[in-house]
Amino acid sequence: MNHLVDLPEWQSLQAHYQQIAPLHLRDLFQQDPGRAERFRLDACGWFLDYSKNRIDRQTMDLLVKLAKACGVEEARRRMFSGEKINRTENRSVLHIALRNRSSQPIYVDGQDVMPQVRRVLDRMADFSEKVRSGQWMGAKGRPIRNVVNLGIGGSDLGPAMAYEALKPYAQPNLRVRFVSNIDGAHLAGALADLDPAETLFIVVSKTFTTLETMTNAASARRWLLSGLGGAELAEAPQSAQARQMTARHFVAVSTQADRVAQFGIDAAQNMFEFWDWVGGRYSLPSAVGLALMVAIGPEHFFQMLEGYHAMDRHFYTAPLEQNMPVLLALLGVWYHNFFGAPTYAVIPYDQLLARFVAYLQQLDMESNGKGTTQEGTPVAWPTGPILWGDVGTNAQHAFFQLLHQGTHLVPCDFIGFVQPAWSAFREDYTRLFAGHHDRLIANLLAQTEALAFGKTAEEVRAEAVEDRLIPHRTFPGNRPSNTLVAQRLTPYSLGSLIALYEHKIFVQGVIWQINSFDQWGVELGKQLANRILPELQAPQEPPWKHDSSTTQLIRWYRQHRSG
Ligand code: F6P
Repeated sequence: MNHLVDLPEWQSLQAHYQQIAPLHLRDLFQQDPGRAERFRLDACGWFLDYSKNRIDRQTMDLLVKLAKACGVEEARRRMFSGEKINRTENRSVLHIALRNRSSQPIYVDGQDVMPQVRRVLDRMADFSEKVRSGQWMGAKGRPIRNVVNLGIGGSDLGPAMAYEALKPYAQPNLRVRFVSNIDGAHLAGALADLDPAETLFIVVSKTFTTLETMTNAASARRWLLSGLGGAELAEAPQSAQARQMTARHFVAVSTQADRVAQFGIDAAQNMFEFWDWVGGRYSLPSAVGLALMVAIGPEHFFQMLEGYHAMDRHFYTAPLEQNMPVLLALLGVWYHNFFGAPTYAVIPYDQLLARFVAYLQQLDMESNGKGTTQEGTPVAWPTGPILWGDVGTNAQHAFFQLLHQGTHLVPCDFIGFVQPAWSAFREDYTRLFAGHHDRLIANLLAQTEALAFGKTAEEVRAEAVEDRLIPHRTFPGNRPSNTLVAQRLTPYSLGSLIALYEHKIFVQGVIWQINSFDQWGVELGKQLANRILPELQAPQEPPWKHDSSTTQLIRWYRQHRSG
């Protein structure tokens, strides 16, 4: 593999950067009246305006050439055809199969995976309907009213984010909650007002070994058994009675049938399978989305898959220069590697997307937060950016000061919708909350304009501002952003939006020559926690094997924990 920074395409971009860097977006817009028309793209119901970027036509040509030189098209083909592109784990990367709504087969090791994908989706739909209709009974013969998803990382963030995003579609008489943290406060808070007789737990864990999820699952089972059968039963989870109750109140989503069965869940009936070619952070459209499907119903879940699939097709078939994920990826590389911007912000102007940034953080930073190339050598260029953000307009009153006048360049993605999601369901809201949405979108547009064009000292002076305040009230501008707009936040538009970012991250990983699909970086902390736990709990002070700081902290904790 060629060293990225030695590629002639990379070097051309470096030279080109010297020409673009001194230019202001004001000049770029003035010099090119057709700019907004040129730098826009429609795909899968999403309208992308990327004209407020520090680019000209040549920038985009050079970036596309870089993508070609880095083998993005070939990498895309290899992913979609099921080749084992996750080389450190020797796995295919086929989240696209989970939402393949066409009749095309997709092969792993010569076997079409689509029949099993469809079978699990059918089982999920059947189960969801049973819970939603009240047909699925708890151990006391009562229908389920509460669903609690126990999982963490990719086994939590996707369904939790999508549940919030699609709440207007959720069945109102079902409470759905997500518990991830090993901090008992999370589980305690989620269960506080629930009746065990009406509560169903979905334990979601690809490996079925994750400490947080297994600890929460064991405690949830104790809570259930104690509520249904008393303290004694809670201490005998493997007894026949306890297993019968567990079977009515626990289902699992996993790749590990044996471990699921050991826990007391009937793996044949009540386990929903997924596969090692689905990475945790890419798993929402698999059985990992079961809690979401129960909440919004199979039909809406399938609409979300349609949205994903539309973006998959767009990514697979569109030429690179008209390919939305590719363009977003290249713009990201432009700022990260040439302008040296270490972070980027995502600002959805939709309260229902409140968890979207947290979801994207795992997607992007767990995928591309790598310092070793596919060949095992240290990278000599910055890779995965730091992603941050929050919903607008709240973010405006929190960190936008820094975006506008701070010393860091932070490229932003603004996301908005023409209509509020609830307008499809609640006519009364349209009347009661008239005016909110236009104000929301006016703010989104105003922020992109202010970031790009700023306010010059002359403009400030013209407002009769005192001389000494002029520097403080000047906005430099020239701060780039993308604006993404769709008609309404729906299962379809959410699916296509997620796939847009998934593929963007993939393209960047290809350019940076890293494996976006492993996550060895989270292992060390897990191992050390397993070593420290018995040291915290041992009755006598154990022989110390740590550095002096960690030893001191463990000692301090031990001394104070009984107090
Ligand atoms: O944080 C590491 C990680 O492996 C994530 O990639 C994954 O989404 C999460 O832990 C949960 O893993 P599991 O689904 O196996 O419990």
